[in-house]
Amino acid sequence: MAKITYIQPDGTARTCVNFEGMTLMQLAIGNLVDGIDALCGGMRQCGTCHVYIPPEWVDKTGPAGEEEQVMLEALEGVEVRPTSRLSCQIQLSEELDGLVVEIPADQPGV
Ligand code: FES
Repeated sequence: MAKITYIQPDGTARTCVNFEGMTLMQLAIGNLVDGIDALCGGMRQCGTCHVYIPPEWVDKTGPAGEEEQVMLEALEGVEVRPTSRLSCQIQLSEELDGLVVEIPADQPGV
């Protein structure tokens, strides 16, 4: 079990519990968390699942993969940070229990 907290741009926090092997995006969608649209369903094609990982968690989530990084760099109209990730590319596990992620103010094309 892993508790994951999503922080909205206005500071509102929502904690969700992952029991199965979901991705960070799937947990957000399953719990109707605002700001995660995931229009491509996790195929790394839309960027609408973009989140910011706090620096202290980057070691555990790992860096963006090569193709994910290409997608992040192609996002238009959103602030991409060094700790930006596509939440569909982060597999949740016990190791990520307590993870806090920030949701950007805008998602591309939404
Ligand atoms: S859901 Fe489309 S890139 Fe993650």
